[in-house]
Amino acid sequence: MQTREEILRVLKKRSGQHVSGQELSERLSLSRTAIWKHIQVLRKQGYKISASARQGYQFVASSELLLPTEIKPKLKTRIIGKDMLHFDKIPSTNDRLKKIAANKGEGTLVITEVQERGRGRLNRSWHSPRGGLWFSVLLRPSIISLHAPKLALVAAVAVVEVVRALGLKVGIKWPNDILVGKRKVAGILTEMAAQIDKVDYIIIGIGINANVNVKAFPRNLRKNTTSLKEEIGRKVDRVDLLTKTLEALEEKYLIFKRGRFSQLLEEWRQFDVLEGKRVKIQTREGMVKGTARGIDEEGNLVVGTTQGVKYISAGDVMLL
Ligand code: BTN
Repeated sequence: MQTREEILRVLKKRSGQHVSGQELSERLSLSRTAIWKHIQVLRKQGYKISASARQGYQFVASSELLLPTEIKPKLKTRIIGKDMLHFDKIPSTNDRLKKIAANKGEGTLVITEVQERGRGRLNRSWHSPRGGLWFSVLLRPSIISLHAPKLALVAAVAVVEVVRALGLKVGIKWPNDILVGKRKVAGILTEMAAQIDKVDYIIIGIGINANVNVKAFPRNLRKNTTSLKEEIGRKVDRVDLLTKTLEALEEKYLIFKRGRFSQLLEEWRQFDVLEGKRVKIQTREGMVKGTARGIDEEGNLVVGTTQGVKYISAGDVMLL
């Protein structure tokens, strides 16, 4: 992997020019055949590299995939993405990360181009075709499990910041649906493993409908779903979007670890689309109807009802 990163670095730096196989082989202390094999792998991954026996190799275009060779050189994080696994197609990045979590350190990232069984909140499925951003991050904060749900809000604040920077009017529907206008553009699924009280790890799974065609979504989802491509009117650079999201996530996570969750709550509140609205919430204990009054210090949804104020820790909100 590092070898291919280095080959790419050299070819990209000299793009527009040829780099001889001899030069690459000397730089990397590898045979010219080995260099050729690495070039073949890069081409399979979607890189366009021309080759001529006389002049050598020339970089033509990057891969469209979310490859570690593209992301690593751009990513300015200390924890998140230090260990990175990329797949073309797997059932779910959250599930994959869960399987390997015991042997992986904080910050491990699993990315895939397609999820075959992407999962959403409340046991829903999450449609994950090619063109989206489907990834999960492993975190190991020293917190008690009671505080784990806060990390879903932390992640929402990070995603919102990145979508907003694209010039879109973005909002959060509690707890962490990311909307553009009234339509959902991204979702977050946090899952944890805990000892009696202490958190062992938390997986933050993020799905962003980046360059997906909403027309390809199941009919029942189309009305309430959108994608960045659809909203902006052109494709977004997925590598850029992913690196920015990971950087924002790390920044917010470090604020959380410093005990400054209230600062993140303030950010979250600025994007609250429910505040003041009549809502109906399906909770495990039944249906709650009332007026949304923002979120409390723990991240619970506060609802004014005819029976007084209720604090909801989990549920599905519908606008009335
Ligand atoms: C929701 O809004 O219901 C949450 C959706 C979360 C989807 C992401 S995509 C990457 C990760 N892997 C999954 O199976 N789900 C999350």
